[in-house]
Amino acid sequence: VKRITITIDGPSGSGKSTIAKRVAQALGITFLDTGALYRAAAVAIEEAGCRVTSNEECGEAVAQTSIRINGQKIEVNGKDVTEKIRTHHISEVASKIAVHPSVRRELVKIQRSFGGLSSLVAEGRDTGSVVFPDADIKIFLDASAWERAHRRYRELLDKGSDIAFDQVLEDINSRDQRDSEREQSPLVIPEHAVVVDTTHLKQDDVVARILSIVEEKLADQ
Ligand code: DC
Repeated sequence: VKRITITIDGPSGSGKSTIAKRVAQALGITFLDTGALYRAAAVAIEEAGCRVTSNEECGEAVAQTSIRINGQKIEVNGKDVTEKIRTHHISEVASKIAVHPSVRRELVKIQRSFGGLSSLVAEGRDTGSVVFPDADIKIFLDASAWERAHRRYRELLDKGSDIAFDQVLEDINSRDQRDSEREQSPLVIPEHAVVVDTTHLKQDDVVARILSIVEEKLADQ
């Protein structure tokens, strides 16, 4: 069977990670969570004590850090940061350092190194537009800001956080704004992407929808 690349992009909380993971599992192919790399870079930058506003300092810190995906785990200089990168604080830092071209350059290199190896589902903000512009199938997942904030809020509550819903909604809105208005690889609907609005869809239905898009596409080839 031909090697295929599927990209799934969309805003924070659109359900990309869960959906992409399930699609990869159903197809038996590799899953690449690119946001995890930005989150790991945020940990590295904090540990290096850099200013999050400095493109040069952040890029330098990332270039000097080993960021590795090891099965289900993600490591920064050999240290397992899988749980640490999921905190609310790291989400904020990741969104700030993701604006820097020098950081993106380093992380895109890591992402592309996965592309040559095997069939892949890559998930992020720019995987269809910048990282894998020649991907076979591009999906753009969306949902209303309120729905996305609610999903995040429930996740955070489950983890024992006592954050207020309004705070999560405000953060989603400002993260959306940063992600789509930044100069470097802003969040856009990639050319030839299929837009799937998940606001009123169940996870199972979203997965089924994407799998049928993949099937159709493969039958065409
Ligand atoms: O998808 P996520 O919430 O784990 O992503 C964390 C941050 O990284 C988010 O603020 C946007 C940024 N990001 C990015 O700029 N480009 C990507 N391909 C993936 C994530």
